[in-house]
Amino acid sequence: MLGPVILAASRSDRIRRLISAAPVTRQVVDRFIPGETVDDIVPVIQDLTAKGLELTMDVVGEDITRPEQATLARDEYLRLIDRLKDLELGEQVEMSVKLSMFGQALDGGHELALANVRPVVEAAAAIGTTVTLDAEDHTTLDSMFAIHEELRKDFPQTGCVIQAYLFRTGADARRLAANGSRVRLVKGAYKEPAEVAHQRKLEIDKAYVRILKVLMVGTGYPMIGSHDPRLISLAQELARRAGRKPDEYEFQMLYGIRSDEHLRLAAEGHRMRVYTAYGTDWYGYFMRRLAEKPANLRFFVRSMISK
Ligand code: FDA
Repeated sequence: MLGPVILAASRSDRIRRLISAAPVTRQVVDRFIPGETVDDIVPVIQDLTAKGLELTMDVVGEDITRPEQATLARDEYLRLIDRLKDLELGEQVEMSVKLSMFGQALDGGHELALANVRPVVEAAAAIGTTVTLDAEDHTTLDSMFAIHEELRKDFPQTGCVIQAYLFRTGADARRLAANGSRVRLVKGAYKEPAEVAHQRKLEIDKAYVRILKVLMVGTGYPMIGSHDPRLISLAQELARRAGRKPDEYEFQMLYGIRSDEHLRLAAEGHRMRVYTAYGTDWYGYFMRRLAEKPANLRFFVRSMISK
């Protein structure tokens, strides 16, 4: 029951101020978001890639209220890509973006988000890598998929995310599997109403399996975004049955969660990409990580009390 309460708090400005100001918060945040600036994150990128891991980089931030913030977000990604150019890691390090951070929810937001994300996709392509569009709450998805389709006309490698908990996702998966897209499948991290999304874990897991089967037999590139050990084994079996070679799909997990498993899968010869977030506007991202696992919240509260 705690998950939905934490997700509701993730949208509250008052709780944001309270949590962001707590002195102990930074230590706990570091587990999931290992830096605030490009300078902080470059050594993390070097360390993880040297261990054979691939990365997808997220500059944290979402739900902006002014177009200037979207410009700043775009520029932060461009700064990161500029630094990546010197590291010459190519597609070993790609970018993940949230279109709400690029202005999607503002007036004329669809066009604004497209205009802001395009230069990031172009810059990524220029250094031999790509961008994946994260999936946010269900009201944003028609716009996200339309931007994905638009970007793919010039940059077919642009990826997108689909969420197993949404009823619409079966149809989205069939379309994306047929048109050769790179698709990350996740369970879904937002608070969604029962009219649009499964609410029970069992139903979400069953939907995940159904959708994964569609992606594996399709013409696209499936990216399995999950830490769930059963789904990871099943994905390996489905990939084998679909005749996919190890470089024809990949696993993705979040930085700070089941890190031993990242290394184990990479050592077994799987493509293993770690979603690595950095930046100062970490509140929404951090709260979703707490909501996914109540033990994280208990740890956080204990750290605050023991200070
Ligand atoms: P599940 O929640 O069942 O967890 C399985 C096991 O993993 C747990 O038992 C626990 O051991 C471990 N675990 C999971 N979450 C943990 C946490 N926070 N802390 C500690 N341990 C944890 N969502 C979305 O809506 N849009 C998006 O764009 C993305 N993008 C994305 C990228 C990548 C690479 C990943 C891995 C996930 C996302 N997500 C996402 C988040 C996703 O929707 C989901 O909330 C989390 O991945 C948790 O679900 P699992 O599949 O890991 O299963």
